[in-house]
This record gives sequence, C-alpha cells and structure tokens, in this order.
Amino acid sequence: MPIFTDFTPNMGRSEISIAFKSFFFSNKKTLKRFAASLKREYDMTPYFYDSGRSALLSILEGLKNDGRNEVIVQSYTCVVVVNAIKAAGYKPVYVDVDESGINMSIKDLKKKITKQTRAMIVQHTFGIPDQIDEIKKLTKEHKFFLIEDLAHAIRATYKEKLLGTYSDAAFLSFGSGKIISSSRGGVALTKRLKLDTSELNPIDNVWKHLYKIILFGLAKPFYYFFSLGKIKIYLLSKLGFLPKVITENEKNGYAPAPHSFSPKLAAIALHQWRRRKNNIKRRRNIAKIYHKELKDTVRCLPFNPEAAYMRFPIFVDNPEKLFAFMKKHHIMLGAEWMGSVIVPSSIDLRATKYKGGCKNAEKTALTIINLPTDRQITPKKAEKITQLIKTFYGN
Ligand SMILES: Cc1ncc(COP(=O)(O)O)c(C=O)c1O
Repeated sequence: MPIFTDFTPNMGRSEISIAFKSFFFSNKKTLKRFAASLKREYDMTPYFYDSGRSALLSILEGLKNDGRNEVIVQSYTCVVVVNAIKAAGYKPVYVDVDESGINMSIKDLKKKITKQTRAMIVQHTFGIPDQIDEIKKLTKEHKFFLIEDLAHAIRATYKEKLLGTYSDAAFLSFGSGKIISSSRGGVALTKRLKLDTSELNPIDNVWKHLYKIILFGLAKPFYYFFSLGKIKIYLLSKLGFLPKVITENEKNGYAPAPHSFSPKLAAIALHQWRRRKNNIKRRRNIAKIYHKELKDTVRCLPFNPEAAYMRFPIFVDNPEKLFAFMKKHHIMLGAEWMGSVIVPSSIDLRATKYKGGCKNAEKTALTIINLPTDRQITPKKAEKITQLIKTFYGN
C-alpha cells in the first residue's frame, strides 16, 4: 500500500466502523463525555466548534474591545489562522521564525510588540514546542492576551508542562491530517473568557465527512491498483462529494462563520482522544528513527522528546525533486506546508496582508519537506522512507 502523509492518515478500521455507524446513529452524550475529559486534561472550560479556525475566531471575538487592534502571529502559518484574525477585526502582525525554521523568533517578536498589540498566537509548528515561557513573560510585561494554537501540538509539553496550559486560551483542531482527526472539528479552551456556543448552527453535509473517512480508508490500498482508488477519489472530489479542507473563499481571505461540532464526528475524535498517549508515544518513536537515520544526510532539528510530532520536518535544497522521487516510489510526502510563507501555496497572498520581510520563514517555505508520523507509519516503513531519502542523496 502506498504511504500518504495527507488523505485522512489517522483513520483505521475502528474509525471507519464508527463513521459507518454514525450514518444511522448519534449519541448526544459524546460531547459531554469529551468535554469532561478535556476539562480534566487542561483545567480550562472547553467550547466545541466545527473546526480549529472557528474556535480561534470565537476566542478573538470574545476579547473585550479596548481599542488595540493588532494580533501577533508567526509568518509560517496557515491561511485560516490569518483569516480568523482579520474576521475578528484585527490586523495580523507577522513575526519571523527563528533558526529552527518553524517556530517564532523571540528577537523579532520583541520588535513587533507595540501599544496596539491586543493578543498573540503561538503555533508550536508540527507539535514542536515553542519557547512558551519566554513568550509568556513578554505577554505579562506588555499585558496582552496569549493564545496557544494546539492544532499540531496535542499532548506536547514544554519543560514537562502540557502545552495549552501556559496561556489565557488555547484551541485544538480535529481536522484531517491532525494528531486526532475526525475530518473536521475543534475546541477552544479558556478560563478567562465566556464563550457562547448555544446558537451555533450544525455544519452542512456531515455525511460528506463520514463518507470521506470511509472512502479514503477503503480506496487507499487500491490507489495504484489500475489507478482505481486514484480515479475514484479524483472523480468524487471533482463532483463535489468530498468536503474541502480549505475552500476557495478561504484561500481568498474569507473566514466562514463558526458552526457546532457534530456528535457524529465527535465520536471519532473521542475514540482517538482516549488513545492519545499511545498516539504520541508512537509518533515520537518514528521521529526518533527519522532523526537518527537522516541527521547526517539532510538538515533536521534535534530530536525533542517533548514534541508531539504531527509531522517530522526536514530541510533540503530543491524539495520538489525529492518530493517527485519519493512519489515515484509511492510515498506521498506532505505538500501542504511547502512553497509559501502562508500555506497552502494556492492562496492569494495579498489577502493575508503579508508584506515580506520574514526571511527565515520565506527560506523555510522553499526548503521544507515533512515526513509522516501517523499510525500507518511503522518503524519498518520509517526506515524504508529514510533509506529512499539516503539513496536520493547518494548516501
Ligand atoms: C497551525 C494551524 N492552526 C490552525 C489550524 C486550523 O484548524 P482547522 O483546520 O481545524 O480549522 C490549522 C489547520 O488547518 C493549522 O495548521
């Protein structure tokens, strides 16, 4: 079976079976149970949404308007984060990444804090912890609101303290490809704000998400078998039967209104949430293999035992060539974080109000490739991936 980095990578037989049952039944208690577990984990009140982007928008809209109109965000980020900032009425202020290439530069952050700074978002890209204690000191000194984006960083820690618990608010994403994935879903966590989710409308077409989980699970093994899976996925996507992760409107800067989290999808996320410790342990193990095998071949960051490793990033010249080489061997590396300082590369960058100047982030966009760490990646498959990369570089 080919290896996919995207394409609902975290779905196994049990998720497919829950998705199938969810076509017919849903249990209203699921969200209550999930909320209780999240509260125990983070000691903050959870508020469910259809996505992480909606959770972020609601947090920002929940802030009291005190006349300050800037929100700091790192420049290597996803367009939906920027859209939420703008939709809440703030101006995004971009901070460059540091030498790691993926997390915020504290030096540049200090330059970007102004009297207008109302809040900042810390991303912990790919689940690799940012220097949240340093950042927290700055937010206290300058009195602005700190939000941790845990879309990539469920269960990651910094100095042995759970990420998310350093801040005034945090949010998780259960979008496809995330550490815990129900195709769509998210949660805001906070003690500082009171958010109201009682009036949210349910998302349209939950069945499309359930269908996607089932279809991808069944089609992936046959992807290259006379191109059966490939053709089916292509056709269904063209016919509009598959939900889009990022819509054309979002690529042009528009943020959709928040919706509620479907209990049908929550059943899948809760199933994975209950297995989160093993999930992260396994990802760390795979990251360790990548690091050990590749550190002398390509640039990679030191192994971090506190990271959640939603992906394992490596940095190379001409990533497209390596990408194409791996594809020939039926390994689809992650493409969504390549090619643009604000991803995906198919967006209208002008709508993000990014004006350049974040040199490290621009370099990252042109040199990064990320390797999969999801549950289909066994140590054997990780070694196969590293062997191919070494072959590509003649090692
Ligand atoms: C860093 C980051 N933050 C936030 C989000 C938003 O999450 P969601 O897709 O659940 O809206 C994403 C993913 O799209 C992301 O990659």
